[in-house]
Amino acid sequence: MIAPGRDEPVRVETIVVPDPGPGEAVVQIQACGVCHTDLHYKQGGINDEFPFLLGHEAAGVVESVGDGVTDVSPGDFVILNWRAVCGNCRACLRGRPWYCFDTHNATQKMTLTDGTELSPALGIGAFAEKTLVAAGQCTKVDPAVAPQVAGLLGCGVMAGIGAAINTGNVGRGDTVAVIGCGGVGDAAIAGANLAGAARIIAVDIDDRKLETARTMGATHTVNSKDTDPVEAIRELTGGFGADVVIEAVGRPETYKQAFYARDLAGTVVLVGVPTPQMKLELPLLDVFGRGGALKSSWYGDCLPSRDFPMLIDLHLQGRLNLEAFVTETIELTDVEKAFERMHHGDVLRSVVIL
Ligand SMILES: NC(=O)c1ccc[n+]([C@@H]2O[C@H](COP(=O)([O-])OP(=O)(O)OC[C@H]3O[C@@H](n4cnc5c(N)ncnc54)[C@H](O)[C@@H]3O)[C@@H](O)[C@H]2O)c1
Ligand SMILES: [Zn+2]
Ligand SMILES: [Zn+2]
Repeated sequence: MIAPGRDEPVRVETIVVPDPGPGEAVVQIQACGVCHTDLHYKQGGINDEFPFLLGHEAAGVVESVGDGVTDVSPGDFVILNWRAVCGNCRACLRGRPWYCFDTHNATQKMTLTDGTELSPALGIGAFAEKTLVAAGQCTKVDPAVAPQVAGLLGCGVMAGIGAAINTGNVGRGDTVAVIGCGGVGDAAIAGANLAGAARIIAVDIDDRKLETARTMGATHTVNSKDTDPVEAIRELTGGFGADVVIEAVGRPETYKQAFYARDLAGTVVLVGVPTPQMKLELPLLDVFGRGGALKSSWYGDCLPSRDFPMLIDLHLQGRLNLEAFVTETIELTDVEKAFERMHHGDVLRSVVIL
């Protein structure tokens, strides 16, 4: 599925996938979720390198690998990731590979039949029967899991769970609030639940989203359309505010809510992605006086090789309900409709089955 140009409708095209070169792998895609970031690509919000090969929340089976690839082999069931760590950058060398500043993608290009080079979304491009990636982008997991569920860990669900357990470091007994309960926010709720949070307060402006948030582990819900969320979160936390507040919308007003809804010395995690025009104004004295940590979470600070197999195992044990994120499974030709439904807040995730 190609996004041919800024705001042009997406369309299905035949693509040419080269045989994998050194360090590369070709993966036969089984399922790929529709993420907000794909829509951003289509709208030209990420960059102008059209045409894009969309899709990046995917699982499938390795078909072939290039020279020097030892970690995965043909036949392996894998989740694709957009953090194939390099091992050599300053973050990797300091033992913090989840921040890797030089992640790997395939070096060869996939093309249209006329030779036009494609830009794969997040270096993946998985709304396709096959895609070419760096071998490090393939993370092996237990093949007992359904592909439409596994693929979601490749982006949004990992970002949300990781925002809670990795970036926010939520622990047993913590109070947590999550602002914005789409796929990412709900995953943050599920992550906080897994980590043993005592209270998990879900905030959204849509009652349908709050209902789902409860099934993910929220203990309390607040509709911030008619209730001041800062007051409500304070009331629900003994008057103090939550230990960790996760912002999963990406707007200045919701970030401010997160900032003031947290307890002294608490943590704010920004996992929602703002636009370039957005500005934040806060009294600097409040930033100082309230203490604690203001963090951003890129891809849930995940390390795919560490986190994907662990979360799939928890899922298979019945301790993490990943099925709940799949609102519908669709065909490749339905991606445009899925963008529309996402825009109207009708789905957590539509997943393309290939
Ligand atoms: N940091 C990362 O690595 C990463 C990865 C994937 C996605 N994201 C970002 O996370 C954000 C959420 O993604 P998603 O897939 O869950 O999107 P989504 O559109 O499914 O969910 C957004 C939710 O926020 C709610 N909302 C909107 N305005 C609100 C407001 N003023 N107050 C409270 N709630 C409000 C909506 O009702 C909806 O439920 C996006 O900005 C996305 O780009 C970040
Ligand atoms: Zn690195
Ligand atoms: Zn995504």
